[in-house]
Amino acid sequence: MKVRAIKTTTIPKNVSSFGILTSEGRNISDLFVPRNIKNIAAKASRSLAIKGKAGEFYAVPLFSGKLSSIFFVGVGREEKLTIFELTRAFETLFRQAQEKKFSSVAVGIPDFIFKKFSPDVIGRILGEAALLGTYRYLKYKSRGKPKSFLNAVTALMEDARFLRDFERGVKEGLIVGESINIVRDYGNAPSNEVTPDVLANLARETARQTGEKVTILNEAALKKLKMGGILGVSAGSKHEARLIVLEHMKGKKGEKPIVFIGKGITFDSGGISIKPSQAMEEMKFDMSGGGAVIGAMRAIGLLKLPLNIVGLVPATENVPSGTSYKPGDVLTYSDGTTVEVINTDAEGRLILADALIYARKYKPETVIDLATLTGAIIVALGDFASGLFANNESLARDIEKASEESGEKVWRMPLPYEYADRIKSHVADLRNTTIKSGGGSITAAKFLEAFILKGISWAHLDIAGTAWLTDDRKYQSVGATGTGVRLLLSYLRRKVQK
Ligand code: BES
Ligand code: MN
Ligand code: ZN
Repeated sequence: MKVRAIKTTTIPKNVSSFGILTSEGRNISDLFVPRNIKNIAAKASRSLAIKGKAGEFYAVPLFSGKLSSIFFVGVGREEKLTIFELTRAFETLFRQAQEKKFSSVAVGIPDFIFKKFSPDVIGRILGEAALLGTYRYLKYKSRGKPKSFLNAVTALMEDARFLRDFERGVKEGLIVGESINIVRDYGNAPSNEVTPDVLANLARETARQTGEKVTILNEAALKKLKMGGILGVSAGSKHEARLIVLEHMKGKKGEKPIVFIGKGITFDSGGISIKPSQAMEEMKFDMSGGGAVIGAMRAIGLLKLPLNIVGLVPATENVPSGTSYKPGDVLTYSDGTTVEVINTDAEGRLILADALIYARKYKPETVIDLATLTGAIIVALGDFASGLFANNESLARDIEKASEESGEKVWRMPLPYEYADRIKSHVADLRNTTIKSGGGSITAAKFLEAFILKGISWAHLDIAGTAWLTDDRKYQSVGATGTGVRLLLSYLRRKVQK
């Protein structure tokens, strides 16, 4: 993908389509519309009754001249415009230009956008959107593969002063977008391709590109470390489990690290407590939290963020067999905690617990985990936002701010002490789920919380609803979304600025 920025108010040669950002309450004369298409754009805008609402999109074909199409993309009311709307507008424009088989598109960035956000931020989200909007998973298509791809984006602006910062932002955005698309590739890839060891290889490759330190613990190492959760869940699988460790220590010496943990279930059949077959094929994406952590570590490394960060991904498959772990089994963790397995389908929390214990050795300041943990979070929030659980108010606020700055929505969920009883077992210290119905996402979060030591700020993001898209959207293609990477990066950028 080639992305360039130029100062001009006319459409450059060799551009086949042009995007106009529209805004509610602004008429066509105060938008960024190049002189040579002013008349036609004004006519089209009138006859289509374009309003500029957020999410609005129109494609207007042209029948003479070099330019083949004008796109109108709405960003909504200026006062309400956030990174979310601008990101969606760019993604829509690039995805739709590609769908219409254009190899290039230019877009005018109007001054009212520069008044709202800094040039580097606008450049970054445009760079991200160029890659994310045009992403499709085609690896296994042997027939009917599209032949044309959007491969050139030009951003036009009136003020040359913005160019340098904008271009710096674009560079960053391309790194982030590329990292997210790798995460999407791994989420979309079937589990007969992406096994725990293949996920570990992605981390190895990431470390090779970034210079980060990578350590892969195999099952023998996990046994030595008494990681009862990962070993329990993995017992039924032919594929060996892994604990993936990526370390980026570019912060001040001695500064406590931030630890990211991602659930890396390469396939979740439910195990002995087997899932119904309806949509079970989607459970190849159950490593999306782990993918997001590896993707974030890739971007963190390539962007050389001056921070100490550790990424942990417990990776295994959850399948039934004669050697599987079973309901009633008791798993013992390295810190002595015992857990009675009630349901083998509540496996994510079991493997995350090992990683939470392992994280203690880094004496972290903050631990953030990402996991496609519960179907219940989809019932609660749908695919609109990730569930945010946190034991610390300032961390919760930081993540909410990062959410605003990344456009990845989160919604705060409670961790009521009354729910702690739900995970108490009659035979062991804890059980992995409750017989009580309702509040399943909270029960899961409470289980994780039981492994957090006093004094550590911890947040858990349940991304079960946001990591996967069941249908194409105007701005995003079906399947794995790579959610979490942009959120974590925005969280870290705020740390760097502090
Ligand atoms: N990976 C699933 C959660 C999930 C379900 C993600 C649907 C995306 C879509 C998780 O391991 C799981 O199976 N959770 C169970 C927990 C239950 C057994 C307590 C669930 O949500 O049903
Ligand atoms: Mn499960
Ligand atoms: Zn799962």
